[in-house]
Amino acid sequence: MSSEHATDSIEKIKELVEATTDPSLKQAIQSLGDAISVGNVTNSSGVAIGRNIHMVVNQLNLPVETVAAILDVRSAKAASMGLDPDRYRLGTLLADKTSGFVGRAYVFQAIDEFLRNHGNGYFVIEGDPGLGKSAILAEYVRRTGCIAHFNVRAAGINSAKPFLENVCTQLIIDFGLPYPTLPPNAGHDSASLSKLLQEASGRLALGERLVIAVDALDEVDIAGHPDGANILFLPKILPDRVYFIVTRRDIELPFVVEAPQAKLDLMSYPAENRKDIELYLHRSHERAAILAWMARQNMSAATFVSELADLSENNFMYLRYVLPEIEIGGYHDLDIRRLPAGLQGYYEDHWRGMGMTAKPLPRVKIRVIYIMCEARQPVSRALIAQFATDQEMKVNELAVQEVLDEWKQFLHEQQTPERLLYSLYHASFRDFLHRKEIVQSSGVTIKDVNGLIANNLWESIFGAG
Ligand SMILES: Nc1ncnc2c1ncn2[C@@H]1O[C@H](COP(=O)(O)OP(=O)(O)OP(=O)(O)O)[C@@H](O)[C@H]1O
Ligand SMILES: [Mg+2]
Repeated sequence: MSSEHATDSIEKIKELVEATTDPSLKQAIQSLGDAISVGNVTNSSGVAIGRNIHMVVNQLNLPVETVAAILDVRSAKAASMGLDPDRYRLGTLLADKTSGFVGRAYVFQAIDEFLRNHGNGYFVIEGDPGLGKSAILAEYVRRTGCIAHFNVRAAGINSAKPFLENVCTQLIIDFGLPYPTLPPNAGHDSASLSKLLQEASGRLALGERLVIAVDALDEVDIAGHPDGANILFLPKILPDRVYFIVTRRDIELPFVVEAPQAKLDLMSYPAENRKDIELYLHRSHERAAILAWMARQNMSAATFVSELADLSENNFMYLRYVLPEIEIGGYHDLDIRRLPAGLQGYYEDHWRGMGMTAKPLPRVKIRVIYIMCEARQPVSRALIAQFATDQEMKVNELAVQEVLDEWKQFLHEQQTPERLLYSLYHASFRDFLHRKEIVQSSGVTIKDVNGLIANNLWESIFGAG
């Protein structure tokens, strides 16, 4: 750990010791401070490190910087085991993702219930891009101090090796397992991880659990990953009282386990999500610049909250970028057409993820996007294939389905009695796609799509979709 981080951590820990009266807590905090300040943290009791971290973080509802400082105890020891401590440091990420965090009580309750009701297992949180999966996991880490690994493609931390190295190191540290350095093959397959989990499980005290949070399985690069192996080599079976909490967008990925598994799809809780978003907007509207903006618009707080909640479609990423843009006077009303730079960048990333930057140009995909954008309502595979086909190019349903499957994470599906309908997951993303020059030059001319819909011809020609 850099001396700057160590000093910060020690300062935070000193403040905590002074503020605490509970003697066992005081001792736990003190021992974390010792683990850093003694320098040679390998001398301190390994078991105590993990247990002390959990005890302190769980019992004191600490601000995120303090939790990050405490988690840096792990980084300090990781450095002595040969891992680059800066690569996996969580401070910045936790601070960013938990800033202004609201709600999600239903998710934390479901996690607690799962832990209580199962002897081990995987709790999987799934949801659209930007719905708040990483924020939930970061907040869980802030509240519990559990072992965590965040896959971040942009930082190159998105393959099995960094995951295995990071998590195996944290396990050795938290449980004081007898390894002076990482086992040689730890980063290459599941054997070391499984062995360490087993050993850690054996050291759990009565009533204790081992929880490992892993964010964004969808960001993991599985090129070259062995066939049949789970993503990140996540074990099929888990030892007693060992749990993984993982998040993912809805994509196909290799993850088959025998351990108990529960999936929580954030999209299945629209009423709860709406409440959380409204609470977030309520808090935001109290900021001076937003109040001033509302005054200029002659807009009430209730209108501000409900209209922005509608526009956001309960998506936090949308608000994370649109609210600051409102604050700096970027919009004169809520007719938000020009997307803030951050949101634009987020959607550009989707664009790449959809395979739209490939050469030669993915012509079928361009046509599918164009049709989905023009239709502005859920459409069926058959309809897309029909509109995408012209004299120049025949697009069959199989080709369309292939594209839809590949884009699963960016689409909403809606089952009607007759057929499955698809739409883009967010209106602002649809607008972004529609404005792309390349989409506009798709070569398909279906400007009359909306005319067909308006004249009720759509249903008569294509059925319900
Ligand atoms: N419950 C919440 N309270 C306050 N802000 C939130 C909440 N959830 C998310 N946010 C904000 O919205 C942003 C987007 O959320 P987050 O990054 O967690 O989405 P995600 O579902 O992980 O998206 P992706 O699929 O792209 O990884 C966060 O950076 C955070 O600023
Ligand atoms: Mg995320």
